[in-house]
Amino acid sequence: MTAFEVTGGRPLRGSVQVPGDKSISHRAVLLAALAEGTSTVTGLSTGHDVVRTATAVQAFGASIDGERITGGRRRLHAAHSPVDVGNSGTTIRLLSGFCAAFPWRTVLSGDDSVARRPMDRIAIPLRRMGAGVEGTEREQGVLFPPLTVTGGGLHGIDYRLPVASAQVKGAVLLAGLGAEGETVVRESVGTRRHTEEMLAACGADVEVSADGLTTTVRASEVHPFELVVPGDPSQAAFWVVAACVAPGSEVTIEPVYLGPARAGFLDVLRRMGADIEVEPVGSSDARLHVRSAPLHATDVGGSEVPGLVDEIPVLAVAAAVAEGVSTFSDAGELRVKESDRLTTVAGELTALGAEVEARGDGMVVTGGAPLQGGLVRAHGDHRVAMALAVAALVADGTTRIEGWEAVATSYPGFEEDLHRLWE
Ligand code: S3P
Repeated sequence: MTAFEVTGGRPLRGSVQVPGDKSISHRAVLLAALAEGTSTVTGLSTGHDVVRTATAVQAFGASIDGERITGGRRRLHAAHSPVDVGNSGTTIRLLSGFCAAFPWRTVLSGDDSVARRPMDRIAIPLRRMGAGVEGTEREQGVLFPPLTVTGGGLHGIDYRLPVASAQVKGAVLLAGLGAEGETVVRESVGTRRHTEEMLAACGADVEVSADGLTTTVRASEVHPFELVVPGDPSQAAFWVVAACVAPGSEVTIEPVYLGPARAGFLDVLRRMGADIEVEPVGSSDARLHVRSAPLHATDVGGSEVPGLVDEIPVLAVAAAVAEGVSTFSDAGELRVKESDRLTTVAGELTALGAEVEARGDGMVVTGGAPLQGGLVRAHGDHRVAMALAVAALVADGTTRIEGWEAVATSYPGFEEDLHRLWE
């Protein structure tokens, strides 16, 4: 296990380019594997999660040579051995849908954290489409990895998502690409739209309703494509909050994707009084200019949660620094992420002197308590590790974050970028 030490009290200055968006990168690799021919994908996320998806499609017969990914249904075949998804919940869920469309038997396993992630949410719709999905039922009615997916012979379904999850939507749509008839996915609250946007961009037969909540896909071929993956807003969020809270900071974040259900954290920070300028670059990307400013409390909950679900750990840091009592609610999904983020974030920020309480499906944060450096743990969770590094920037003295290696899941260069912004 590695540790990272951060000594607070220094402003951040300059510009930073975050890695390519993780959600888009996973889907780019999967769609390029399905596309007949060679696609070119530039700026893929360098995180270990996306490497797992890339390794998986190679096990299915796609070839990857730098930015060039060559695939096609005719060259794909069952994997010869179990596919290890590592720490990546997105990989195991999207791959389940991907594999369900083929007459293969695929075993998908992962690390201890993935083994605790619920999979019934994908097993139920995929089984309804005709796939076999087996796993371990350690709690009543909840299925956990390793999974065995037996695919082929699928038919379309009309499915309303019981949880707001873009991973589940993506899995069902990928399976729908190889199913007979129409597959309809209905959402009550909109989640990130990358699967449907990217399917449309590579020529699949897909339609999205005007309100963005109903997606219909029919069996189709996808064409090879050229894609420059935009910067990841969820990684940008760490620098945005860092620049807000570390006095004297002035940071520019090079363009990131700010399309549907990804920019909610900016609305929350603006409500808190943050000084953020959004400079549009193209139709869905923007450069962000952030200066430190005093923050005040806010309430985060309801339908805005799916649009900022990954940013809650670092928004909790902003709330800990802000004046007043902030609440996070309707965020029960955080309990089934890489760690139980409500418990780990509340516990570790409390260890640094913040007043944070995990309650049911949320947290209550009483801002303004002075933070003090100390020993904290990442709990194998990349976003907890990076949120703690941001908190450490405003803590008195030095903070030691144990389990720092978790950041490689999504942002291997975080430490290097922090040093650059400190210079
Ligand atoms: C993701 C969807 C979200 C998010 C995860 C990536 C995706 O998960 O938390 O980091 O790429 O579809 P859920 O689908 O579980 O909400």
